[in-house]
Amino acid sequence: MEFPFNINHLFSERISVLDEVLVAGRKSVGRPDHQANIATVIDELGKASAKAQQLPASITSASKMQSQKHQLYLLKDGERNGGRGVLVGFLKVGYKKLFLLDQQGVHIEAEPLCVLDFYIAESLQRHGYGLELFDFMLQHKNLEPVMMAYDRPSPKFQSFLSKHYCLTQSVPQVNNFVVFEGFFLNRAAQL
Ligand code: ACO
Repeated sequence: MEFPFNINHLFSERISVLDEVLVAGRKSVGRPDHQANIATVIDELGKASAKAQQLPASITSASKMQSQKHQLYLLKDGERNGGRGVLVGFLKVGYKKLFLLDQQGVHIEAEPLCVLDFYIAESLQRHGYGLELFDFMLQHKNLEPVMMAYDRPSPKFQSFLSKHYCLTQSVPQVNNFVVFEGFFLNRAAQL
């Protein structure tokens, strides 16, 4: 996704991690122009993700980021667009207190890290960018994908989880979150 400003001025790293402060590295501290452009990037990516998932409204925006304790991983390709860079996609995660059913149907209260939104620009999908972003997040959080919960995963995302992480057997829930077999097993081992 292209923008009318230089992406490399906003994001120095290939993958940037943003929280509610919406600052990507020291460069943007005290630069309201940078912060406004970062907000534009998040809003536009959020809209594109909602459109791709046929959602009535964005679930990711700069203002939502500022009011929620979520983390956003942004992937850029700094060389495209004549060296001005493009945004390839993003992954949003956050901890949620959930009431889940284990394989025996017993209610469990847990607060796992959840994948809340995930989007790679249409023309760049199926090129391994999603995997690069997801693997970066797993390393950053030092987590296995089976330990996470997934908020209404789309068919493409379900296929992605199956292909890259062999996550296929989900445990039925009464909410919109999906967890896979192994989530409860590994939890029990940790207790
Ligand atoms: N149709 C079916 N499966 C797909 C598609 C597609 N169009 N695109 C990606 N995948 C899955 C497949 O398993 C694919 O492997 P294959 O090509 O061998 O079939 C695998 O992902 C490819 O892996 P990557 O290239 O690393 O994935 P990509 O960069 O495409 O990112 C993502 C995956 C984020 C799901 C992307 O396809 C996308 O943005 N889709 C539209 C938005 C979306 O559905 N986001 C998930 C929302 S749900 C949530 O966030 C909780």
